[in-house]
Amino acid sequence: MRQKFYFLIIAFVSNCLLVTAQITPYHYKAQKDIQVSSAAVVSAHTIASQVGESILKKGGNAIDAAIATQFALAVVYPGAGNIGGGGFMVAHLKNGKNFSLDYRETAPAAAFKNMYLDADGNAVTDMSQLGYKASGVPGTVAGLFAALPYAKFKMPVLIAPAIQLAEKGFVITKAEAASLNSARKDFMELNKEPVAFVKKGLWKAGDTLIQPQLAATLKRIGKLGQKGFYEGITARMIQNDLKKNAGIISLEDLKNYKAKFRDPIQFNYRGYQIISMPLPSSGGIILQQVLKMIENKDVQAMQFQTAASVQLLTEAERRAFADRAQYMGDADFVQVPVKQLLDNTYLQKRMSDYVPGKAGNSKETGAGFIPEHEETTHISIIDGAGNAVSVTTTLNGSYGSRVVIAGAGFIMNNEMDDFSIKEGVPNMYGAVGNAANAIAPGKRMLSSMTPTIVLKNNKPFVVVGTPGGTTIPTSVIQSLVNIIDFNMNADDAVNKPKFHHQWLPDILYIEKGFSPAVADSLRNMGYTIEQRSAIGRTELIKINPVQKKKIEAVADHRGDDDARGY
Ligand code: GLY
Repeated sequence: MRQKFYFLIIAFVSNCLLVTAQITPYHYKAQKDIQVSSAAVVSAHTIASQVGESILKKGGNAIDAAIATQFALAVVYPGAGNIGGGGFMVAHLKNGKNFSLDYRETAPAAAFKNMYLDADGNAVTDMSQLGYKASGVPGTVAGLFAALPYAKFKMPVLIAPAIQLAEKGFVITKAEAASLNSARKDFMELNKEPVAFVKKGLWKAGDTLIQPQLAATLKRIGKLGQKGFYEGITARMIQNDLKKNAGIISLEDLKNYKAKFRDPIQFNYRGYQIISMPLPSSGGIILQQVLKMIENKDVQAMQFQTAASVQLLTEAERRAFADRAQYMGDADFVQVPVKQLLDNTYLQKRMSDYVPGKAGNSKETGAGFIPEHEETTHISIIDGAGNAVSVTTTLNGSYGSRVVIAGAGFIMNNEMDDFSIKEGVPNMYGAVGNAANAIAPGKRMLSSMTPTIVLKNNKPFVVVGTPGGTTIPTSVIQSLVNIIDFNMNADDAVNKPKFHHQWLPDILYIEKGFSPAVADSLRNMGYTIEQRSAIGRTELIKINPVQKKKIEAVADHRGDDDARGY
C-alpha cells in the first residue's frame, strides 16, 4: 500500500515536471546560444537541458539541476550520460564555499597491474576498451547522492523525469541514430540478451528509444537510495552478468564504492579566480600549469590563433602533458608532487627552453625534473541565487564497454583503459603513463576531465567543461584564454576552431576551420601538423553582471548540445 502511494507521488511529480516546464521528448530542436537574465543549463542534449531548467523553475538550485540533468543524460544520451560510469563535480555556492566531488570509477579488488597483458607481455587494449573486463566500479550514483545534501529536493523528485523518459521513451536525433548504428555490432556480439539500443533494422532520426529495464533500475535508485544501485537487485544483476562473462567486479566492490569530496585546484589567472578538479583528474593541474606558463607573456598582443599565440600554447601544453605522463595518478595511492608541479618558479623554468618561432621537440622536452573514441559529457549550470555547478561525467569511450547489464538496462564504462595498462603504451586517447597511473585494486584511473568555474570579484564569471579525452584540458584552456585574453563572447570562445598538443605523439592537431596560412607558418617553424575531428563539445556559461540579460549560455555547435534558461 505504502509502495503504491509512493509511486503515485513520483508519477504525479514527474508528470508535473514534464508538463509545466516544457520537456518535449517527442519534438524538440536544440538551442545553441541564449542570453537570459536569471539561470541557465547547458548540456549535451536538449531534453536533458530541459529537465535541468524545469528543476530550476520549480525552485531547485544548481545542484538539484545538476543531479536531475545527469540522470536525464543517462537516458537520452546513452553514449556518455550514464549511471554505469563516473565523473567529477566542481561547485561554487552562493555562500562562497567551493567544493569538488570525485565520483571517478575505481579498479575492482581483483584488478592487478598486468591484467591487460598477454603471455608475451604485450598490451591487449581490446580487453581494456571493450567488454566485461573493461569496467571500473561505477561512481556516478554515489556521486549524485553525495551532492544531494546541497540540493533542495529529495532524490525521487530529481530522478523522476529520467524515469519517465526511460519508460515512455524519447525521439532520437540523426547524430544519435548514426552513433547507435555504429555501435550495433558490438552491442549484438557482446550482450547475450536483447538490449534497448539494438532494434530490428537500423535506427533513424525520429525513432523512439524506450528503455524499460533502465526505468526499473532508476526506480530502484529513487526508492531505495544509493543501495538501489550498489546493493540488492541491481548489484546482483551487475555481478551476475559480469561473472558469467569473466568480468571481475564483485558485490563487495559495489558495496564499498565511495564518492570523495576533495580540495579543488584554485589559482588566479590575470585577476580571475579559477576553480577546477584535482587528482585523480589531471585536468585542473594541466589547466593551472598551462595558464601559469603563459601568464607572463603578452598573449593579448599576440592575438587569437596567430602562429605566435598557437605556438606559445602548444609549447605550454607539451610540457604539461609530459608532466602528466610522468607524475600523475591517484594521489590516494601514489605520491604525486602536486605542490612542485604547480610551483610558479618550476613552471617558469619549464618554459626557459621555449624559443618563439621554433618548434619544440618531445624527445628533448620530457617531464620536468623535481627533486578519450572520445565520449564524455559536460553540464554547466548557474542558478538565480548565484550557485554554479560544473559537472563532467563519462563512460570513457562512446557507449563505454558496450556491455549493457542484463536486466538492469544500463551501459558499463570502459574506464580501466584510462590506467596506464603498460608503461609507455598509449591509451585510446594516445596518452601514455607510467607507474603513477598503474592499475591497483581500489585505485582511481587518471582522468583529463576539467570541470571548471571562474570567479570575478568572488562571483561566478564562467562555468565551463567539455568531453574529449586528453583534449579536455586544452579545450577548457583555449575557451578561457579566448575570453580572458582575447575578449571573445561565449559563442566565439566555444566555437572558433581549436588545436591540441599532448606531448606524445609530437603532433599539433588542428580542427577544421583552422587558418591554413597559420598552419603553414607553424610547419615552417618545424611542427608536424594534422587535421583531426572535432575537438571537444564545450558547454559554457558566461556571466556579465552589468547587463540585464547577464547570462550568455552556449552549447557547442559540434554536437546536439543545447542551452536552456530564463
Ligand atoms: N575517460 C576520459 C577521462 O577521464 O579523461
